[in-house]
Amino acid sequence: MRVLSGIQPSGSFHLGNYFAMMRKMIEYQEQQELFAFIANLHAMTSLPQGAHLAANTREAVVGFLALGLDPERSVFWVQSDLPEVTELTWVLSNLTGMGLLERCHSYKDKVARGIQANHGLFSYPILMAADILLFQSDRVPVGQDQKQHLEVARDLAVKFNLAFGQTFVVPEAEIDEEVAVIPGIDGQKMSKSYGNTIEIFCDRGTLRKQVMSIVTDASSVEAPKDPERCNLFSISSLFLSREEKDSLASQYRAGGLKYSSVKKDLVERIWKYFAPYRERREELLRDPEGLRRTMALGADKARAVALRTIQDVRLKTGTQYGAGF
Ligand code: ADP
Ligand code: TRP
Repeated sequence: MRVLSGIQPSGSFHLGNYFAMMRKMIEYQEQQELFAFIANLHAMTSLPQGAHLAANTREAVVGFLALGLDPERSVFWVQSDLPEVTELTWVLSNLTGMGLLERCHSYKDKVARGIQANHGLFSYPILMAADILLFQSDRVPVGQDQKQHLEVARDLAVKFNLAFGQTFVVPEAEIDEEVAVIPGIDGQKMSKSYGNTIEIFCDRGTLRKQVMSIVTDASSVEAPKDPERCNLFSISSLFLSREEKDSLASQYRAGGLKYSSVKKDLVERIWKYFAPYRERREELLRDPEGLRRTMALGADKARAVALRTIQDVRLKTGTQYGAGF
């Protein structure tokens, strides 16, 4: 089975990214054919460009590697290193109805938040479909927010196959119910664009500040509390074993629990959990040449697969000059 997912280099990785997507991808490399990439072209739809995008892309590469992605056991590359993906985007654009894109929540939400939409943002789901279809991916692990984009990719695969004959695998989204939507410090979905994240690679002071600002209700210490409705409990659960989680839930229900002590404990747990990854990140940053080599090799491996698909697409769509007449 081929598993593929990508992540935008649009700031520091946070708990939502890690638990919904990155951790699962890293586990997959043990048993499946894993394709992972940094979606820097997608990041252009909402970020400053130039040096800033380049630095964010390097940060994302280093972060993913530090968290355990092994470039020997996976195919790991930077999206823009393979222009084939933008070629396929154009081909797929011609099969995409305007209505399909107009219905996409992610675009609609951004517009509703006052972001001036450009065409890149509007056609974002087509580029994402091209990422997935170019590599004939079977499974795509993502958080809940990407579900609709996966439906667009499936739609386009089916449409293309009907029009031109069997070409693409129809991919399936893989959304893990337990971590489908990880809340941020304000209780909304944790997201870089909402400024409510708990970061993975920040310094201890920042981590403390982020955790201490998790919003909780105003009940007194003595009052019994409902863990199921508590944002702090959901985030803490990511770092607790089943027994520890049950025990914390009982303390909530019994009353006498101080949110501030749960928060202090959470700071310790997060700091400890990511300690080895922080060290690995520092090591990687000390070897920029090694990183460049790793990503060049990754792009070569990815290209070998992408070329097979794009050549087939060129033949079928009649864009390979000289073929078919
Ligand atoms: P952000 O919303 O912070 O910009 P991205 O869009 O770059 O995050 O998301 C990268 C991956 O992480 C996607 O698979 C996305 O579904 C997942 N993800 C991001 N935030 C969350 C969250 N709060 N809960 C679950 N999954 C998330
Ligand atoms: N849109 C995804 C996100 O914001 C990132 C992404 C780009 C992606 N291309 C992809 C995810 C292909 C899965 C497959 O999280």
